[in-house]
Amino acid sequence: MRLKDKVAIITGAAGGIGFASVKRFLQEGAKVVLADFDKEQLDLRERELNEQGFNNFLTSVVDVSDRKSVDWMVRETVEAFGTIDVLINNAGITRDAMLTKMEPVDFQRVLEVNVAGVFNCTQAVIGQMLEKGSGKIINTSSVSGVYGNIGQTNYAASKAAVIGMTKTWAKELGKKGINVNSVVPGFTETNMVTTVPEKVIESIKGMIPLRRLGKPEDIANAYLFLASKEADYINGAVLHVDGGIMM
Ligand code: CAA
Ligand code: NAI
Repeated sequence: MRLKDKVAIITGAAGGIGFASVKRFLQEGAKVVLADFDKEQLDLRERELNEQGFNNFLTSVVDVSDRKSVDWMVRETVEAFGTIDVLINNAGITRDAMLTKMEPVDFQRVLEVNVAGVFNCTQAVIGQMLEKGSGKIINTSSVSGVYGNIGQTNYAASKAAVIGMTKTWAKELGKKGINVNSVVPGFTETNMVTTVPEKVIESIKGMIPLRRLGKPEDIANAYLFLASKEADYINGAVLHVDGGIMM
């Protein structure tokens, strides 16, 4: 019960990594808000959790890129659970194309969700955390943001920005009792990688010393650790969970 009675918002909770994290957090005693854009998938996830006997959770349909929608989700959370202890900024999208073919609208949208979305959610919860002088914020970056990746001008820029925001907030908020850290997943088996051509996947596996893609649970375990008391002295970290793809 490493998160007993802690209230955690997980964005992108209906997706692969997000939902694995929801289950992990519920198993550890947290009260969890599943925040996601995709209502249909969210309903399926809700049904699955009910079938498994979990009831300490709330689903909220939210577009993280829309501040009003985020404020509503945060209000719902506080009404239901009274406070917010943990925010996992996990929602993210790709719109891959080579630089020469990338549509400006796709460049823009990826930044709106992956960068402004992280800003919106963090700014919306920070008042609660400052008031009680504690909180854990975990931002999801990517190996693409650290090393670059063919076809991902927009996404790599957005995920590098996530690391910049993490380090800035770690400096601004540390003295207020709030820890801010970033997780850098490598290629992980979720819907997001289904767009990657098989040839590319094989060459990626060849670059990973552990010779496999990540599983959603691998990333969920890192979120759990950083959200737990065991990580109280970790702040501004950039934790790679990538099988050692590049060092
Ligand atoms: N490594 C080496 N070469 C690559 C490559 C790669 N990763 N990706 C593409 N290329 C090469 C192709 O082999 C091709 O070479 P030739 O011209 O010599 O044939 C050239 O680049 C152009 O590629 P395409 O023919 O595929 O061009 P396209 O315009 O049809 O598609 C693309 C471009 C959409 C970027 C497509 O190649 C693609 O989807 N690539 C994968 C992008 C990727 O890795 N996305 C990661 C998604 S998962 C994720 O984002 C999670 C995370 O955080 C890591
Ligand atoms: P996924 O596609 O399974 O899940 C992403 C979830 O985010 C989806 O449920 C989607 O509905 C939600 N979402 C998208 N736009 C949203 C918005 N505007 N508002 C609210 N929710 C929104 O992808 P996955 O793999 O679970 O991704 C989770 C995070 O991990 C993302 O930030 C992604 O960039 C990051 N990541 C994933 C890697 C991978 O290989 N799968 C590697 C590195 C990072």
